Amino acid sequence: MTSTSSPSSPATSGVAPVAVAMDAPSLTVMAEWARAVAPVVSTLKVGLEVFCRDGAAAVTAARQAADEAGHPGIDVFLDLKLHDIPATVRGAASAVSGLDPTFLTVHATGGTAMITAAAEALPATRITAVTVLTSLSEEDLARIGLLGPSREAVVRLATLAVEAGARAIVCSPQEVAAVRSVVPADVTLITPGVRPAGAALDDQQRVATPEQALADGADLLVIGRPITGADDPRAAALAVARSLVTR
Ligand code: C5P
Repeated sequence: MTSTSSPSSPATSGVAPVAVAMDAPSLTVMAEWARAVAPVVSTLKVGLEVFCRDGAAAVTAARQAADEAGHPGIDVFLDLKLHDIPATVRGAASAVSGLDPTFLTVHATGGTAMITAAAEALPATRITAVTVLTSLSEEDLARIGLLGPSREAVVRLATLAVEAGARAIVCSPQEVAAVRSVVPADVTLITPGVRPAGAALDDQQRVATPEQALADGADLLVIGRPITGADDPRAAALAVARSLVTR
């Protein structure tokens, strides 16, 4: 079963509301990570590194690894961050329809018509609008001309995206409460930039702990390197899952 219209609910599925970012150097490594974490998490995220190299085979391998690990029907998050003219994004979204992802990302800054084109092309998928990358600091945003607090830009882009047909929003944990207050409850809020207390920030800037992100209204946490870079990715995923259960 693939949960195209309704992502796994942690309350009913017994797994943590975590999308593991599988930014792996090879398909073999990605499949190993997927087998390790699939019993523990709701979602596997296939992103640009893996998709640009391995294409659709990456999604097939992720699903197969999850099946083998005892989590058939795991949600697949296809993180392609599409950003182009509406006709091109419509075509790109149609091109991945056979992969039946639960989530497909587009950049909200692509605008209303682009987001609507993606939503029309993939009605069974939650078109997921990325607002402002969590790797950008306020200083970075000022340099690219996004003046004012990042929270205002994120709220503005989230509102526009939902009106255009997005059914999920990506924002930083530091903005998720503000977004939650302006979008309908059935819009899935997804937060990268999540770091267990004491973990390395890597290139993320606007971060919070998993517990805080959920408390502030996130539905799904994107976590990559703190899990995949650990000596034991399953143990790292389990530690995050336990921190959420006991919060
Ligand atoms: O936890 P970690 O920093 O390794 O997670 C990085 C992943 O999150 C990457 O796959 C990246 O594409 C994704 N991501 C992000 N910021 C966003 C959207 C997605 O870091 N705003």
